[in-house]
Amino acid sequence: MRDTSGLISVRMRAASGARHLSGAERLVPFPHISTVIQKFLDRAWSKGLLPDQIVLTIEPLADRSVIEIQALDLLDLREEGVARCRDAASGILRSAGVAPQAVLQAFSFLDRGPSETGGAMRGAMVMNALTGERLEPDRSRGVRASRFDWSDDAFLSIAEQLARLGLTHFRTREALALASKISFAPGFVAELCWSDDPGYRAGYVASRPSGYVRLPFMKEEGASSGGRAVFIDTKQADISIVTEYLEQQPVIVNAIGKCRNEGAGAAALAVS
Ligand code: COA
Ligand code: AMP
Repeated sequence: MRDTSGLISVRMRAASGARHLSGAERLVPFPHISTVIQKFLDRAWSKGLLPDQIVLTIEPLADRSVIEIQALDLLDLREEGVARCRDAASGILRSAGVAPQAVLQAFSFLDRGPSETGGAMRGAMVMNALTGERLEPDRSRGVRASRFDWSDDAFLSIAEQLARLGLTHFRTREALALASKISFAPGFVAELCWSDDPGYRAGYVASRPSGYVRLPFMKEEGASSGGRAVFIDTKQADISIVTEYLEQQPVIVNAIGKCRNEGAGAAALAVS
């Protein structure tokens, strides 16, 4: 087991004006910081649009203990077309215990832009899984999962397993770590996500019974709407407890789950 004492949170965010361009974070021991920072700078500069601001934060975790978790299993469901991908996602959410009305509301918010002004949010919506009520106090900011990372061994294993499925982009590895942290949140029921990046159409749905189910077409070509919805059972946890866990609790994903793919029409397998 890796020694998690003395870990340091290293975070990067790059922006152009008010627009967030990219971000990344790690939890590493002190001697690894300079290597991580170099990689973060490479990522910040690698985007087509040059940032006019890059913010690096190096923050010891102080006396906060680190929780170690196993990643969700991953299913790469090769469903075809937006309608079929969304049907599969809706079915998985309902099977996990999200009420049909809450599922519809989440899709509707992500389609029209969930922030107060109708654009992308800076974090996730947190929704009551039974009613669809939005619980995050600031509807433009939302709640951001932070302070998490793969352990070195788990990172190597997940990179290998995902590459076997043809999933080599860092986005998938990072989204899986993020969704795995979120899935251990108090009161967690399920999550729905697709990017607001017009060039990226894949998304996922996650729950404890289904694991992380990646779907290739969650929106139409060129669409710039997207976001994240985290569904919670408010009888188990209120928004302040969920927010504290997501934003502040350090989490290391130290083991991977099973990773597999299925062809079109296999959505039912995700919930069996
Ligand atoms: N989207 C849009 N804006 C963001 C943002 C995001 N993901 N993250 C930060 N910002 C902007 C916001 O304007 C924010 O102000 P707000 O709190 O009023 O919204 C401001 O930057 C400061 O945010 P802060 O949370 O203090 O930034 P940070 O430097 O501590 O962390 C990130 C930035 C990008 C690292 C963090 O938000 C994040 O998304 N972490 C997850 C990254 C990830 O996937 N890691 C995988 C590890 S395996
Ligand atoms: P992305 O996949 O990075 O395009 O993110 C999709 C959406 O998830 C964004 O539009 C935000 O609403 C939200 N988001 C971004 N970063 C985080 C985070 N760290 N935690 C929770 N939600 C986030």
